[in-house]
Formats: sequence, C-alpha cells, structure tokens
Amino acid sequence: MRLTDHERAMLDGGHGEAAARAMDLLVRYGEALGAERLVETRNVAGAFNASTPSVREIAEDSLDRVFSELNLDSDDVIEIPHVAVPTCQLITGIDNDNFATQGVDPELADLQLRSEQYLGKRGINLMCTCTPYQVGNVPVMGEHCAWMESSAVIYANSVLGARTNVEGKESTGAAALTGRIPYWGLHCPENRFAQHLIRVETEVGDMAEWGVLGYFTGFAVEEEIPAFEGLTDQPSLVKLKHFGAAAASSGGVELYHMPGITPEAASLDAAFGPNARPEPAVYGAAERRRTWERLQNASDRKLDFVMLGCPHNSIEQMALIAELLDGKRIHSDTELWVHTPSAIRQVADRSGYTAIIEAAGGVVMSDTCPSISRKVPAGTRVIATDSAKQAHYLPAIAKVQGWFGSVEQCVNSAIAGEWLGVVQ
Ligand code: F3S
Repeated sequence: MRLTDHERAMLDGGHGEAAARAMDLLVRYGEALGAERLVETRNVAGAFNASTPSVREIAEDSLDRVFSELNLDSDDVIEIPHVAVPTCQLITGIDNDNFATQGVDPELADLQLRSEQYLGKRGINLMCTCTPYQVGNVPVMGEHCAWMESSAVIYANSVLGARTNVEGKESTGAAALTGRIPYWGLHCPENRFAQHLIRVETEVGDMAEWGVLGYFTGFAVEEEIPAFEGLTDQPSLVKLKHFGAAAASSGGVELYHMPGITPEAASLDAAFGPNARPEPAVYGAAERRRTWERLQNASDRKLDFVMLGCPHNSIEQMALIAELLDGKRIHSDTELWVHTPSAIRQVADRSGYTAIIEAAGGVVMSDTCPSISRKVPAGTRVIATDSAKQAHYLPAIAKVQGWFGSVEQCVNSAIAGEWLGVVQ
C-alpha cells in the first residue's frame, strides 16, 4: 500500500492514537482488498450509535470502548477525538419520542440519548436516517464517499454519480477519523461500466412499480452493474429510492446506469464502455407480474401491521399518506407506522401531515425502522408494506407473513383491517 506523507504520519502516531489505529485498520483492510492506495474522502455515513441490546454491556463501561471495539476493531479502549471530516450517523434502532410504542426498554432509550450526546460532541451529524441524501448530505458527481447502508450506496453511486463501496462500521469509523478509504471497487472508474442490459418492455409507473422493477433487477444481475433501455417514465427521487433499495435487496446491486436519467452514462455505449454489450434480459408484463407475486409472502388477509417509509419517506410521501388518511380511521385491530427522517418529520409536523396521520390512529416514527430495530407491534402475525425491500426482509426478521402493494393499497388496507391489495 502506497501512503502519502500525511497518511504515513497518521499511521506513525503523529496525529494521535485514534488516527493511528484508524490508519492501521485502513491499511490492513485495503491490502486485503488488493487496493494500492487510499483515497481522500470528506463524506462519511456510518453506524456509530451504541444503543443496541448487544452492545449495552460495553456501553455501560464507556462509549469510547464501544467506538473502539465496533468502529475501530480495537480491544484497547482508545480516546475518540472529534472526527476529521464531515460524518453522519445513519439509521438507528430507536425513535427517541416513540420508544415505548416500539417496545424498547427505557434504559436502552436513555443509552441512545447518551450515545447521541457523545457522538454529537465528536462532530458526528445525527441525521439518523438511511436516506442522508434526503436531508442535506448530497455528494456531488465523482465525489469519493465512505457510506454504509445498501439503499443509500446505490442511490449515491447511481443517481448522484458519487463513488462509494458498501462500507462497514469499522471502515466508516476509520474513515471518519482519517478522511481516507481504500481506493478500490467503485472508486475506480474502470469498475463502473455496465455488465448487464435490461430491456424494459412494459410501463413502469408508480413507486411500487419501480420497486418491483428493482426487485427483478437484483435477481437478474445479482451483484453486478446493469444498464437499462426502454424506460419511458421519468422517475423521481422517490421512485429511484425504491428502485435502488429493492435491487440492493434481491441482489447486491451498488450501481446502475439509466441513460437519459442517471448522470454517469448518457448513452448505452458510454454505460458499457469497453465491456461487450450482452443479450438483454427482458422485463415485460409477464416478468412484472411474476416479480410482484414473488413479493407476496402471506396467505392470511387479516392485517395486524402496516409499515410505510422504507427507505425513509420524503415529504412528498408524507403528504400523500396524510391525504389518503384525511378524515379516516385506521382499523382498531391494525397498527400503522410511517417512517421518515426527523428533519422531514419537522416539515410534516408544520405542514399538518403528522396531525392527520395521528388523528387517523397512525404513528409517525423517525430515526429507525422495524428491520433495524427488530421491533413490530406486539402480537403481529401479518404485515403489509409499500416497500419491496421491507417485504423482502421483514417477514424473515420478524417471523411474520408479509403483503406488498402500492401506498394506496396499504393505507386502504390499514383502514379496512384486512389486505385489499391485488397484484397489479
Ligand atoms: Fe431504511 Fe430500514 Fe428500509 S434502514 S432502507 S427503512 S430496511
């Protein structure tokens, strides 16, 4: 691994013990990956919070110990200084305002608050969402980042043209303290060309349909890079957010190209670069229907829980849910939780959307989601969601049956107390 003088000085301890440990971790990690050098980053998004049951014991000892063990892979307790570059906290397991509704024990909620104070003092921005790009962390084209969270990574790489691999707790911790990350994988332009072609031969309209296309894509290309032809709809942030989250769930897609939509490749020729263009995988009406059916993992229609906001909702989605619920009442046997970043929740509060959702019997949650917290309402057997990602993961995590449908289908079903959705 070639190091610059500054990097060598960090490794040798000239910038303190924490930076030295972090550089040591990055060098070992980079060498294991075959990286020849590090690259500078000024945009880190990771998971630094201490408030999970599994780390509670070490958190009681010291929060420096939690960071040392989980974010620096160090058995020694290192005093953690202010981070070196802009860094944000991704989603956590706890909503500070709704922890009781989540079923989180108050002591763990208290630890979350202490953990937030600890992180804030060290310069970690507490965005607490899987969608930092919705609340102010918007890297620009070509910017090298060190991000965790598969749905955020695919959005940053594809929609914004930034460059990041899917990092882990340790590498983002080390990147935050050094402003460096190994230069490999999707940081290198030669690794960003398409390997698969998907020909879309059916209309892809609303958000749920973009999620279904994403779910198809992940199965079709697994961890490789697809390019698309035949798309006629102009997708929004919300649609691409759902598309990417789904593709990163059924597969491990971290980057895609949609010429005319995403910024890195203006044409299929540019998307494939030196790679031979393969025979296309066709996504037509039959594939769309089969994929939609594949997302249904339920047989009982009586509904216990409706989960919206995966990835975390935009303000546009909050407005739509409020409109659908205005003057209505959620069935007494069904819970509705709507998830959004706390920054967007503030706008929803001021705009009156939260009040409408709560008047209907719903709960607006921030900072968390059921897959990360592993919390669903007590006694839940059957869930419904408008997210292909949540439909993929939550039935296995919470051992429940799961329905997938559009936001309208989910809200109307929450009101009826039973699944009313049909495969579209
Ligand atoms: Fe975000 Fe949780 Fe979905 S982390 S992408 S809301 S599974």
